Amino acid sequence: MMYEHLTVIGGRAHPELAREIAQYLGVDLGRVDLWNFPDGEIGLKILENIRGRDVFLVQPTCPSANETLMELLLLIDACKRASAARITAVMPYFGYARQDRKDSGRVPITAKLVANLITTAGADRVLTMDLHAAQIQGFFDLPVDHLYASPFLDQYFIGLEIPSADMVIVSPDEGSIKRTLQHCEHLHGSLAIVDKRRTSATETQQANIIGGPIAGKTALLFDDMITTGGSIVGAVNVVHRHGAKKIYVGASHAVFVGQAIALLKAAPIDEIVVTNSVPLGDKAQSLPNLRVVSIAPLLGEAIKRIHRNESVSYLFE
Ligand code: R5P
Repeated sequence: MMYEHLTVIGGRAHPELAREIAQYLGVDLGRVDLWNFPDGEIGLKILENIRGRDVFLVQPTCPSANETLMELLLLIDACKRASAARITAVMPYFGYARQDRKDSGRVPITAKLVANLITTAGADRVLTMDLHAAQIQGFFDLPVDHLYASPFLDQYFIGLEIPSADMVIVSPDEGSIKRTLQHCEHLHGSLAIVDKRRTSATETQQANIIGGPIAGKTALLFDDMITTGGSIVGAVNVVHRHGAKKIYVGASHAVFVGQAIALLKAAPIDEIVVTNSVPLGDKAQSLPNLRVVSIAPLLGEAIKRIHRNESVSYLFE
């Protein structure tokens, strides 16, 4: 099916996802030439007429965040100057989200600055998924459509047909309780929480479990993102020590930096289920128990609905 006046353009952060979205929508990807000058500065040129078009720029601001963010800003600027009718920044992963408040003196609120930069560059709307904190939506004075990967992750686990009496859904820390409760509701499992305490400015301790029981159960742990892997693997180890029979991990954003792959490989996890909000490349091959659920249909459907002025929240009703 073809949509009139709709253009999807992918930056270099995640061309594969942009291609999948375009395929879902039945459109060709907008053509753009992107390069780095010898000094590292980014250059680009949109290679087709986008005057009067509804443009969706697919660019998660994943590592290297500074590069991907700057490229997104330049893409927005180029589209604005090429007279696009409307520009939507499609950021399935919104980087710099963790710095969303002044939690000590003399630190930046980078998530707000990034929102300002995207707005100033000329975006008209933002389409994103599983923000680290939902209130980041309010950092934009633009419409933000916020999608959730949880129904897709839950669907995977429903397919495993784990009896609900056997299933315990474990929040890896107190901050994730709300998300965990939603999974409990959809999957009909019982709730447990890993008690994660800060022991010093740089160290946390994960030792106890609140709720349960865990022993002999199949445990499912959900987090919004896995970056170094430290938080989730710490929680998995506690659950393992408490006698879980099987352990599954679900996460929206598989950012995987530093020792993440090695940590996950060594951990007692049966399966790790993530989305393709950020590119996984050969990381997916090196973790044999990694399952990747594509969110291209979700993003494609949301883009279709935004373009046609239809409800996006309907997708989650
Ligand atoms: C924490 O608030 C987040 O929900 C994640 O648990 C955390 O950002 C993951 O980071 P890492 O994998 O580096 O522990």
